[in-house]
Amino acid sequence: MSAQINCPNCGETVQPQLRYCEHCGVDLAMAVVLAEQEALLPIRQVSGMPLAPEILVPRIGEYMTQRNLIKPEDLDRALSYQKERTKIGNPILLGQAMLELGLVDRETLDQVVTAQILELQNALAEANRTLKQRVLERTLELQGALERLSELNVLKANFVSNISHELRTPLTHIKGYLNLLAEGEMGPLGQSQQDGIDVILRAEERLEQLIEDLIQFSLVSRGGMNLDFEKVDLSTLIKTSLDRISPKAKKHEININANLADNLAPVRADEDKINWVLLQLLDNAVKFTPKGGDVLVKAINNVGFVSISVIDTGIGIPKERLSEIFEPFHQLDGSSTRHYGGTGLGLTMVRRIIDAHGSQINVGSVIGEGSCFEFALPAYHPNPGE
Ligand SMILES: Nc1ncnc2c1ncn2[C@@H]1O[C@H](COP(=O)(O)OP(=O)(O)OP(=O)(O)O)[C@@H](O)[C@H]1O
Ligand SMILES: [Mg+2]
Repeated sequence: MSAQINCPNCGETVQPQLRYCEHCGVDLAMAVVLAEQEALLPIRQVSGMPLAPEILVPRIGEYMTQRNLIKPEDLDRALSYQKERTKIGNPILLGQAMLELGLVDRETLDQVVTAQILELQNALAEANRTLKQRVLERTLELQGALERLSELNVLKANFVSNISHELRTPLTHIKGYLNLLAEGEMGPLGQSQQDGIDVILRAEERLEQLIEDLIQFSLVSRGGMNLDFEKVDLSTLIKTSLDRISPKAKKHEININANLADNLAPVRADEDKINWVLLQLLDNAVKFTPKGGDVLVKAINNVGFVSISVIDTGIGIPKERLSEIFEPFHQLDGSSTRHYGGTGLGLTMVRRIIDAHGSQINVGSVIGEGSCFEFALPAYHPNPGE
């Protein structure tokens, strides 16, 4: 990743927080998309195929006519003779045909064959050299494209972050006035107005959550995840997450339960981030479980770490698509996107946060029966060096 960022259009250095290049005025988001396509173009273009040795070495007949070792009409005769022999099921090589017709003597033929073998060897060596050169050129092209793409990725992550921050400001005003309205501070509301305000408030909360997710995502994409490790009491953390998700679970008619080991060991983790992880997993579990289903959070002590699982009795995920769900903006299908909502960033972030804790997230699922997301966190040790 390069330290300074250049405008993909004019190449001048640009301030990361700007939306338009201060030098050429181009919309940086558009320029990034176009530059990305351009950077990928050389990868898609396949230059001409390398020359094969058989193209480089003339066939024996051509070779001999070029050197006046045989006349063209004699070559035709030899070729016809060879064809005849093939027809009657007794095929011979062209050199043999020339010999049998007395068009060439054995010694000349041997010299020609030897010369041809040498030329073939040279042609092979030349083809290999060309191939090596092409591999080298392609590798350089790919390296160039990769560098360019990582630079563009930084710019992209900056836009997401800048725009998300910009969205936050008007949203804060909207939220402030909505709350004043909802609490009757701006005059009494009738029932239908109150209902309307409630709907807007819920939509505002969702929007706020999406913006927070985008900010988290762009922070992590820019390598900006700083973990604040501390001693974390998981029982309290899990109970807080369950409290936060329970209104949504109630609305979806999902039963939520916790099964936590007695004396659950404290862990070494970033409390806010793990809280966010749990909320994402619980949000998914509730979202992708039909009415009347169950969601269970389990935590058990292991030697040196604590395992946490979020288990649901929901729609499940096909085995072959388990790795896809951790890709950014990836939701399993168009219809479920529309049905369930979301941006498809939750699990991407979850995985990055768990990875940053030196652990990994595992998932098991059976279609129509449910899913289980599991990760472990290291037990807290007051003196980690010992
Ligand atoms: N518990 C689950 N059961 C079934 N499918 C799931 C579950 N969790 C995740 N998925 C699938 O993985 C996809 C990606 O999940 P992810 O949390 O990243 O995105 P999202 O929930 O769709 O949106 P966001 O979390 O950004 O609001 C989901 O859209 C869904 O298709
Ligand atoms: Mg999600």
